[in-house]
Amino acid sequence: MHMQDKEKRPMGQVQRPSHDPGFAVYVHWPFCLAKCPYCDFNSHVRAEPIDEPRFVNAFRAELLHRARQTQGRTVNSVFFGGGTPSLMRPQTVQAIVDAIAENWTVAGDAEITLEANPTSVEAGRFRGYRAAGVNRLSIGVQSLQDEALKGLGRRHSAAEAIEAVKIGAGIFPRTSFDLIYARPGQSARAWREELDQALAMAGEHISLYQLTIEPDTIYERLFRAGKLAMPDEETGRALWDVTQEISEKRGLPSYEVSNHARAGAESRHNLVYWRYGEYVGVGPGAHGRVGPWLERRAQATERHPEMWLTQVETDGHGLIENSALTSEEQSDEFLLMGLRLREGVDLETYESLSGRPLRRRQIDELTSYGFITEDEGGRLRVTPEGAPLLDTIVADLAA
Ligand SMILES: C[S@@+](CC[C@H](N)C(=O)[O-])C[C@H]1O[C@@H](n2cnc3c(N)ncnc32)[C@H](O)[C@@H]1O
Ligand code: SF4
Repeated sequence: MHMQDKEKRPMGQVQRPSHDPGFAVYVHWPFCLAKCPYCDFNSHVRAEPIDEPRFVNAFRAELLHRARQTQGRTVNSVFFGGGTPSLMRPQTVQAIVDAIAENWTVAGDAEITLEANPTSVEAGRFRGYRAAGVNRLSIGVQSLQDEALKGLGRRHSAAEAIEAVKIGAGIFPRTSFDLIYARPGQSARAWREELDQALAMAGEHISLYQLTIEPDTIYERLFRAGKLAMPDEETGRALWDVTQEISEKRGLPSYEVSNHARAGAESRHNLVYWRYGEYVGVGPGAHGRVGPWLERRAQATERHPEMWLTQVETDGHGLIENSALTSEEQSDEFLLMGLRLREGVDLETYESLSGRPLRRRQIDELTSYGFITEDEGGRLRVTPEGAPLLDTIVADLAA
């Protein structure tokens, strides 16, 4: 179906994005000291120490494998995500950064981010990451209230999280931290105070996530049992409005649904995803979108860390999925990712991927409700009024 769709598209009409979204490498470290009750990321707790040299060898093999599929690309961003990458030894991070540089050209201004958990913060380790080439730190603060941190099952206090942010800011050129809001029992007034405090200590970037009840988590069981007083729709909306209002006032407006930055300080890594750029993912449970524009493949690796190790040692890669995406799948993904961004999507680029334009009736209807806008240059954006309804809007447009 993919090839047929491509053949139907007349030559000369292939429209690439006006700017190259860049090329990124995602490295997944799948271990944590403890599992947080709300989290459904691919993270595992191990009683025994992790054999890091063995993991390094496996990461090297996967990087070589993906480099063969993406020859000639220049790496604009590397992201160590987790799990808790700040549990990795700096030598492990160094070895992976080196392996990336051996396999691709790395742009001089490449962004190299590492996610850190305040529980594993230690200045010496941070300096080691910095020496390994990490130039951006993203810290999982989650809340500035001890009571809330306890409720989230976090093993650190607010004071420790604040200290981690300070240490990080003293070592890395760029830092960010994450907060989770719309927590059980949280009022808009309490969130306003907490967010104000957070923005006062924020640098150039902050991620503000609404708590989501994910399937198969302890939070889901508690929620089903009626033991989590999640904010109702009205409170949820008030929390969202407070978030937009204060962050904008403080000079960190949202550039994506949950991400806020000063102009020019956006996470380049995430921009590659949202602008539907090409990225490879290595490590257990990592995803990738690999291949030229119009010919993207969806890749995913084995999630279980030790099974991933064994597979890489046997096959030279941990992929369990490597499938061509149809034109429709690519254009749906382009829309879904791009409309998360304040900059929106280019309609011609959508059309070139999909082979057909978005339906005018849908655009006009959503515009009349004030949920989207279309500018003269042909860019479609979700308005602040439409932002809380993003999923419905995308489903409507892509239907
Ligand atoms: C995979 S975690 C990695 C960060 C690090 N392990 C930590 O917890 O500090 C990335 C971020 O996702 C967010 N997150 C995880 N589960 C979430 C959920 N159910 N709802 C909202 N945000 C969530 C948290 O803010 C977290 O910092
Ligand atoms: S939120 Fe972070 S520390 Fe907690 S389980 Fe998920 S990845 Fe691990």
